[in-house]
Amino acid sequence: MENPPKDDTVLKVENLEVTFTTEEGALQAVREVSFDLPRGKILAIVGESGCGKSVTAYSLMSLIQKPGKITGGSITLYPKSEDPIEISSLDEKSDLLYHVRGGLISMIFQEPMTALSPVHTIGNQICEAILLHQDVSEAEAEKLAVSMLGKVGIPGPEKRLKQYPHELSGGMRQRVVIAMALVCKPEVLIADEPTTALDVTIQAQILKLVRDLLEEMQTSVIFITHDLGVVAQIADEVAVMYLGRVVEKGSVHHVLKNPKHPYTMGLLKSLPGLGSSQERLEAIPGSVPSLTAVPPGCPYHPRCPKFEPGLCDVGAPPLMRQLASGGQAACLRLEDIHSEEAVPCQ
Ligand SMILES: Nc1ncnc2c1ncn2[C@@H]1O[C@H](COP(=O)(O)OP(=O)(O)O)[C@@H](O)[C@H]1O
Ligand SMILES: [Mg+2]
Repeated sequence: MENPPKDDTVLKVENLEVTFTTEEGALQAVREVSFDLPRGKILAIVGESGCGKSVTAYSLMSLIQKPGKITGGSITLYPKSEDPIEISSLDEKSDLLYHVRGGLISMIFQEPMTALSPVHTIGNQICEAILLHQDVSEAEAEKLAVSMLGKVGIPGPEKRLKQYPHELSGGMRQRVVIAMALVCKPEVLIADEPTTALDVTIQAQILKLVRDLLEEMQTSVIFITHDLGVVAQIADEVAVMYLGRVVEKGSVHHVLKNPKHPYTMGLLKSLPGLGSSQERLEAIPGSVPSLTAVPPGCPYHPRCPKFEPGLCDVGAPPLMRQLASGGQAACLRLEDIHSEEAVPCQ
């Protein structure tokens, strides 16, 4: 392996590329995406709708459906007590992929009903998840289920086991889904906008719950959201995606306090509460272009307030560069905007 990871990396993604073959041509929804998930930490992937966050998440469990395909790069999982697993090269029907999904990596989706069956009780569904991946009796599985439901803050867990998903509120359903995802103690949890469908109060409760639980269980997490406010509340590290690429990454502290890419700066400006109180909230003008019309040069240039004609709108998209102050960003004007040194990442 070219770059053996430090002991504290649980998942390493390098140059990931995902292509959808459509009537309109080959659409690259994810390009040159690289990031490391540090063990026991929460990495947020943030960006507007259509930036490739979900496609990235699905790739990590090799769940991309046709006409999509991973067409480049590598996804390597470093389980604590097993050999490293190269996920993108696993056969669709291999036992190892089956072990990875649900055993080593589990996923929470935006809409809890995608993960829950309406015709089975909560208890049956959680116990089934336990029995699939753990060598325990049915009685032990039920005990584990009750304990996990208690941990995710569901009152009267014994009673809840006998209920059906439709008998629970949206917030309670999402707690059940979190319980199901965590009950097998995965090494990595992928949460794809898990609180977006919930109202703000419930969202805050669930974020706090997730943060506390993960700290207790030492699970590593990829937390996907379009909301930098959520990133500030929950994550340690952040990768900002725009039109299928990572355009900035670093520690949450660094990136939110001192954003370097104009896209991150724009996302922050449009967020109430995080920027300076004097600053007016400004939405980023325009919208994310379609993959059939990716702008030349820096894909963000048509919306960028720092756009320089002749520089930003020509050639290949800018590569990630390392900033002297920490973090990385893919912008050709880093030195002009921030007057600091940026060097190519190797
Ligand atoms: N099944 C599909 N067929 C064709 N293109 C797709 C498909 N799924 C996703 N895409 C493309 O990938 C882009 C990124 O999608 P997605 O990862 O879901 O964005 P996000 O989660 O950031 O909102 C979409 O805008 C779309 O162009
Ligand atoms: Mg999505």
